[in-house]
Amino acid sequence: MTRRLEVALGARSYPITIGAGLIDDPAHFAPYVAGRTAAIVTNTTVEPLYARRLGAALERAGARPFSIVLPDGEAHKDWRTLDIVFEALLRAQADRGSVLVALGGGVVGDMAGFAAATYQRGVAHLQVPTTLLAQVDSSVGGKTAINHPLGKNMIGAFHQPVAVVADTATLATLPARELAAGLAEVVKYGAIHDPSFLGWIEQNAARLLAREDDALAHAIQRSCEIKAAIVAEDEHERGARALLNFGHTFGHAIESAEGYGKWLHGEAVAAGMALAARFSVARGRLTREDAERLIALIERLGLPARPPSIAPATWLEYMGRDKKNEAGRVTLVLLEALGRAAIVKDTPPAALEAFVASA
Ligand code: NAD
Ligand code: GLY
Repeated sequence: MTRRLEVALGARSYPITIGAGLIDDPAHFAPYVAGRTAAIVTNTTVEPLYARRLGAALERAGARPFSIVLPDGEAHKDWRTLDIVFEALLRAQADRGSVLVALGGGVVGDMAGFAAATYQRGVAHLQVPTTLLAQVDSSVGGKTAINHPLGKNMIGAFHQPVAVVADTATLATLPARELAAGLAEVVKYGAIHDPSFLGWIEQNAARLLAREDDALAHAIQRSCEIKAAIVAEDEHERGARALLNFGHTFGHAIESAEGYGKWLHGEAVAAGMALAARFSVARGRLTREDAERLIALIERLGLPARPPSIAPATWLEYMGRDKKNEAGRVTLVLLEALGRAAIVKDTPPAALEAFVASA
């Protein structure tokens, strides 16, 4: 069964298609690539698995495909790797009508999207996510970025894709640790927006971990529905979109402080959500029972609910650079209940410092 939904952004609206075997079907690509040069941006892990099949589908869709293969890993989400993309596009004489097709996880997707936002002042890109995390989150919504040694995703642009094609069959080759990392973002949607979805995740945790296609497809669809609705309301994160950052303020600090790639993004978000839930309790916003229920789910999915040991000054240094911050104050997404979150801008610095010192 193929599921389809839309990110409603007026003239820049686009479809998300979810199903098994989609990368072999030219019909999903033809409207965006026919008659164009299509650069498949992928990495050394995903290229041998799926690039030939996607290239064949793009060719049957009427495109002129070629591949740009990047080194794998969060540590390569940087200027140097981005330049590999630009150099390959220039050598191929890719013009403004070209399309970049991101084939891979969130790292490839964020970099291909940023390259598309800036190459010749902007070309189209299509997202073909192959990790659970990318299928439920990073391929949707148009945030593109690279990391800076001083902070995660600090250099980037908003640039929406023309379509997202999520082939659930590609998840069969995903390492178990990466699958769990994707489930962290699925839990996030339930925690901030949809208590009944959170209950569904609790009831279906074993099916999700066993990669049952029905369960994964439902999790991807519901996650994308929630993200699409929030992005349609607040594309450029002037308000509600910040809710999607639940767990990320602590999580990005973990990723940056530990060195990119040591903790997977989803693992850092999982520990970050547990911390945000505990801090919500400390600030009198959430009951201890609700925080413990969320933490129990995180642990059941094989995800970390405790951060690594980080000095309080280091926590505050990285959290102090978060893109949500205003007037020198750390903005946090805290829970009011399971399924209801709030953007909190008035946390007393001393309370946050005392909390991270005991984390
Ligand atoms: P990733 O891109 O590093 O992929 C994880 C690993 O799985 C990599 O080694 C990759 O090569 C491999 N892989 C990918 N597909 C595979 C497959 N089908 N089979 C086998 N191996 C496969 O990590 P990720 O978790 O997908 O993405 C994390 C990144 O996404 C972070 O940089 C994060 O900041 C970003 N992100 C962006 C947004 C956004 O809105 N733009 C949202 C969430 C996360
Ligand atoms: N992952 C957060 C966002 O897309 O806004």
